Amino acid sequence: MSSKPKNTGGPLVITFSFVLIGMLAFGFTGLAKTAKDSYAKNQSEITRLQDAQKLELQSRSEKAKAAIAQKAELKAQAASPVAGANVEIGKAKYMLCATCHGPNGEGMTALKSPALAGQSAEYIIRQLQYFKHGVRGADPAKDMQGSMMAPMAKMLSDDDMTNVAAYIGTLTGKAQHTLTGDANAGKAKYMLCATCHGPNGEGMPAMKSPGLTNLPDYYIVSQLQNFKHGVRGADPAKDMQGSMMAPMAKMLSEEDMKNLAAYIKTLAK
Ligand code: HEC
Ligand code: HEC
Repeated sequence: MSSKPKNTGGPLVITFSFVLIGMLAFGFTGLAKTAKDSYAKNQSEITRLQDAQKLELQSRSEKAKAAIAQKAELKAQAASPVAGANVEIGKAKYMLCATCHGPNGEGMTALKSPALAGQSAEYIIRQLQYFKHGVRGADPAKDMQGSMMAPMAKMLSDDDMTNVAAYIGTLTGKAQHTLTGDANAGKAKYMLCATCHGPNGEGMPAMKSPGLTNLPDYYIVSQLQNFKHGVRGADPAKDMQGSMMAPMAKMLSEEDMKNLAAYIKTLAK
């Protein structure tokens, strides 16, 4: 009979295995932790680089924007209808105009002349050309006021017009009014006008439309009548802008015109 040899290696192997497994497991968690740490570090480095890149792009696009804005401003200055005008000569020329348009460009109710203060130079020069060349004010029977103005424009050279428009740009007279109307009813009608004259009646350079806010109410009504009855804006070949305005006036009744003028008055600053 032989007795089984005692196997003492078993428990030892098991213990070793546990230690080994323990060490491996510890090693793995350690490795995993290092990997996680370095991943986090990489990630934060990537975010930092991305942020830096974003900032760089932002500052580049801001610089580009500023450069574009500056270019646009220079272009606008060069394209300004009164670039290089002589305001002093314009002031001397305005002496005559003041007799009918007031010393501060406020207009005169007695003569039914409009205020000129606050109007764009581009628009003033264009209207002076129209009066000079018979597009406006050629027919005293249909257009009494316009025929008072026409001879004044005929005395002006192109340079005179630029200079006087530049001087008018310095005037701040406020229009006087003589009519009454329903401003609320006018407000609803104004919705359409706003598409070309701006929501606050400020005028839109892109549409070559005039500002309306410093026009006397009697003048607004008289011009709407002129457009409606073909005194202004009847000939697109001579008066492109006027022919855009004429169809609008044809949709208005006398009542509408007064109400519109009453509302436009409320837009004045
Ligand atoms: C004799 C009076 C008189 C004189 C002087 C006069 N104007 Fe006028 N002007 C008028 C009247 C009246 C009107 C309105 C015409 C109309 O109802 O169509 C007018 C209209 C205008 C308009 C059109 C404004 C608009 O909103 O459409 C301009 C611009 C203008 N005048 C500029 C001048 C300038 C610049 C001078 C000086 C060189 C001048 N006027 C001298 C009486 C005058
Ligand atoms: C499609 C664009 C357009 C619409 C819409 C429009 N207008 Fe005009 N309006 C113009 C233009 C452009 C002129 C300038 C005409 C010219 O140069 O002779 C003008 C001129 C005028 C004038 C003459 C101002 C002056 O100083 O002589 C008055 C008043 C006027 N508009 C009022 C109105 C009213 C009120 C409405 C709404 C019922 C209206 N407009 C709708 C484009 C428009």
